[in-house]
Amino acid sequence: MNLVLLGPPGAGKGTQAKLLEDSRSLVKLSTGDMLRAAVAAGTELGRKAGDIMERGQLVPDDLVIGLIAERMDKDEGGSGEGYILDGFPRTIAQAEALDRLLKERGKKLDRVIVMEVDDDALVERIAGRFACAFCGEGYHDIYKLPKVKGVCDRCGSSGFVRRRDDNEEVVRARLQAYHAQTEPLIDYYTRQGKVRAVDGMADIATVSKEISQALAGA
Ligand code: AP5
Repeated sequence: MNLVLLGPPGAGKGTQAKLLEDSRSLVKLSTGDMLRAAVAAGTELGRKAGDIMERGQLVPDDLVIGLIAERMDKDEGGSGEGYILDGFPRTIAQAEALDRLLKERGKKLDRVIVMEVDDDALVERIAGRFACAFCGEGYHDIYKLPKVKGVCDRCGSSGFVRRRDDNEEVVRARLQAYHAQTEPLIDYYTRQGKVRAVDGMADIATVSKEISQALAGA
């Protein structure tokens, strides 16, 4: 099964992608994580993408499509039973490229989960977000604190980081990019009968249950 998690910044795509990866034999492909890794490593791609990401704009299609293609090639033979696409596609051109990349590998897209969240809730969610600096496990100041203060639940380390693009001004630019460039994908996939909407305002466990129900029969 191959699925896309679609929603605005802070909707919970990364949180739910991780839960799905842990509970099913699926491989998570997150363009945001890949781009941040390229920025941290100082690669040519990272140098091209870094400033764009800090402004909250979308990185050019050819760069992110190339990243996904490269990752799928590395995963040749398939280390799982399909892909969870988190943050990709974000434009119609990317959606068309995804159809092509899957088809070339004898696969197809089965479901698009649209995570519906109020814009106002997103700013609060993003402002409270932090992650383990070592394993990347995501947390939130209110909604998901480590079980033991200052210690990562997953790997036991004690270093945490916050993203450079998680401030109110950049979040508003990211939201604008979502509404203008990514939201049209909902119609694109609705026409293909692949969309299932979930209430992203519910708590993390409830959203996860709703997603499982939406994937039944896919
Ligand atoms: P990316 O990393 O994809 O960021 P995003 O889409 O803005 O989404 P976020 O990661 O901010 O949010 P999320 O939905 O994953 O929420 P999360 O689970 O963390 O992209 C960053 C940048 O890279 C883009 O701006 C762009 O420049 C570039 N880029 C990436 N992909 C691209 C592409 N395909 N094309 C072009 N450019 C691209 O949750 C947020 C917080 O809320 C967390 O703290 C979490 O614990 C908490 N939370 C989650 N669910 C709930 C819940 N149900 N209730 C309460 N709290 C919750």
